[in-house]
Amino acid sequence: MKPVVVVAGTRPEIIKMAPIIRALKEAQLPYVFVHCGQHYDYNMARQFIENLELDEPDYSLKIDASSPGAQTAEIMAKTDQLLAKVEPSIVLVEGDTNSVLAAALAANKRFIPIGHVEAGLRSFDLRMPEEHNRRLTDHIAEFLFAPTERAKSNLLKENVWGKIFLTGNTAIDAVNQHLPIAEKNSQIMEKIPFQTFALATAHRAENVDNVEVLESFMEVFSKSPLPIVYPMHPRTRKRLQENNMLADMEALKNVLVLPPLGYLDFLVLMKNCKLIITDSGGIQEEATAPGIKKRVLVIRLSTERQEAVEAGFALVVGTDSKAILDAMEEAAANQTTLPSVSPFGDGTAAQKTVDIIKKSFT
Ligand code: UD1
Ligand code: UDP
Repeated sequence: MKPVVVVAGTRPEIIKMAPIIRALKEAQLPYVFVHCGQHYDYNMARQFIENLELDEPDYSLKIDASSPGAQTAEIMAKTDQLLAKVEPSIVLVEGDTNSVLAAALAANKRFIPIGHVEAGLRSFDLRMPEEHNRRLTDHIAEFLFAPTERAKSNLLKENVWGKIFLTGNTAIDAVNQHLPIAEKNSQIMEKIPFQTFALATAHRAENVDNVEVLESFMEVFSKSPLPIVYPMHPRTRKRLQENNMLADMEALKNVLVLPPLGYLDFLVLMKNCKLIITDSGGIQEEATAPGIKKRVLVIRLSTERQEAVEAGFALVVGTDSKAILDAMEEAAANQTTLPSVSPFGDGTAAQKTVDIIKKSFT
């Protein structure tokens, strides 16, 4: 069999591809791991390769682009060159980032089959670059690995031409595989000065690139009914700096601002927090894993993870400070019983995905 190319460009892609890489290895299928360099800081890239005990990427691309279009074009051109050398049987991409679209287009131009892991998510919110990336990728992929029935139904409604497989989401596989290791090895709780806290992250372009939303988040953090632990994404750090808000955020007594954390530390914080406040996609899934089971306030206008809302884990609260604070008050005061089953699968998504690849290419 010709190798499977596994592409990851950003933090969540490394995390969600790790179970697939592991399953490929166990099945003794040849693969080539490409880190395409969209995220490049140690704590946004390499840290995860180490945490998840992955082998060195076979190719680590260096990207030096100043706009989303140039970033996509550069990743596409560099991926095109390596695909010419590797001649893979299939290119696997995961999620909805610019790396995903770029690598998928590179494969498409060489008539190499594309496998889209986490296919079929839809926020129906066209302000989001991710919504464009995922729709475009779904329509050029030959293998669509849909995490849920809803995702499958979205794809069927759009008449995609690829084959759809229901697998679950590898985010749950990753939590199941790493939470026991995290609880044993992470020392992050020694650095947390609060008994009870909310865990917050924010990085969506439509949020943090908008100064009004940044101001709203600042108000939420300063008036929060719970202390907040806040590992800050580099995009957000940059925007707070540009708007002279970073020092004010870091000075808030009830907020512990941290650098982007490793996966094991972040899992332990999710496990130990009272509540999660986030605009992340992956964190909405992880919160539903049986080992985590936490309520999530989604500080966005929409979600492509509606399953987490319907199962009672997530609530889309928007970006208005009063609405977020009201929801925090309510969540801090009330203990909710959450389901012990994740709507995103039982942690076998990677195995199912690799079984399908094996059957199709050997
Ligand atoms: C990207 C994805 C988003 C995903 C997120 C995961 C797109 C359109 N967006 O958003 O879907 O949820 O990754 O975290 O693909 N930066 C650094 N160091 C890094 C990486 C980024 O300083 O290692 C800074 C740079 O200033 C960069 C900015 O963050 O310009 C934004 O990075 P980029 O990868 O373009 O988008 P994200 O916001 O990370
Ligand atoms: N995460 C992490 N450290 C952090 C913040 C997040 O390890 O400081 C992990 C988190 O557990 C999840 C992934 O990063 O697996 C989510 O990435 P992000 O929110 O950047 O992207 P999204 O999922 O929104 O695309």
